[in-house]
Amino acid sequence: MSIKPILFENGTLKMIDQRLLPTQELWLEYHDYRSVAEAIKTMVVRGAPAIGVAAAFGAAFGARDIFADDFETFYPRFEEVCAHLAATRPTAVNLFWALDRMKETARTHRSLAPDRIAERLLLEAKAIAEEDDRLNRTMGRFGERFIPEGARILTHCNAGALATGGYGTALGVIRAAVEAGKKVAVFADETRPFLQGSRLTAWELMKDNIPVTLICDNMAGYLMSKGEIDCVIVGADRIAANGDTANKIGTYTVAVLAREHGLPFYVAAPLSTIDLAIPDGSAIPIEERDAREVTHSGERNLAPEGVVVRNPAFDVTPARLITAIITDKGVVQGHYAEGLRALFRKG
Ligand code: MRU
Repeated sequence: MSIKPILFENGTLKMIDQRLLPTQELWLEYHDYRSVAEAIKTMVVRGAPAIGVAAAFGAAFGARDIFADDFETFYPRFEEVCAHLAATRPTAVNLFWALDRMKETARTHRSLAPDRIAERLLLEAKAIAEEDDRLNRTMGRFGERFIPEGARILTHCNAGALATGGYGTALGVIRAAVEAGKKVAVFADETRPFLQGSRLTAWELMKDNIPVTLICDNMAGYLMSKGEIDCVIVGADRIAANGDTANKIGTYTVAVLAREHGLPFYVAAPLSTIDLAIPDGSAIPIEERDAREVTHSGERNLAPEGVVVRNPAFDVTPARLITAIITDKGVVQGHYAEGLRALFRKG
């Protein structure tokens, strides 16, 4: 039973503060769209699908708080709410996907009074959250056949329950393999600088009794060269039409290492992460984050004062290094441009 990082109970949005894990399990409460936007920006909630779910609830709060008599007054204000939520993080397309879906829902119900539209929007946010958990389980079933009995699996960042509406994408595939009775061992890259691997992946796998070994990012090549890794599976923040995949910084390095060692490299992501409007990875916007994430560990300074720092939060793995993209509509192996487009045509 994996954790759900986002809950909606009695009109309150509750999110576990992922910045404090694993030492503190603090649930924060949200009632308005501005504070939800702040939570996304400051990484209380993170991971592409989870950002989309949180933004959908934020949009629903924003809609509820608009005073308008008709759709013509309501909708431009609702668009402003969505624009505010969209301006939080640029890379994960699930954020924009969720907000587009909320705007479309509002337009579909344009004949209703604005307070009724707001009710529909809350139902839509709940549907997005519930669907994400369900689709991850479907994806897990599609993906687990790639995980052999006894597999030693390397993962990077956190593409688990904490990063989604529940269950996880990459970790969902691993969970499904375990549920299918396979014994697996997971190796979690710590994922500098934000440490999603050590703080979040290790924590949620240990909670579910899935064997996990924590390594520093720069140890992956050594373990591969020693024959201690059988495959790699990661999540995604945005997949371009040709299969190029943006994911947490360091993913590209792992993919190059996997190719060098002849290991399969899998990406697991829902259709909401695929952006057919972007032809290839070069057009994916990459978030640059605060230098302090690199120079500091908590309050402790790890670098000389004033040092020049780069902190890109994501990189792009070219499609040619990806063995298969596992989605909730099926698996694409090579020929990504046609394969990914075909997934959208499936009912
Ligand atoms: O900066 P983050 O923690 O939001 O980045 C998260 C990742 O890169 C995940 O691997 C990705 O969102 C997939 S989550 C199912």
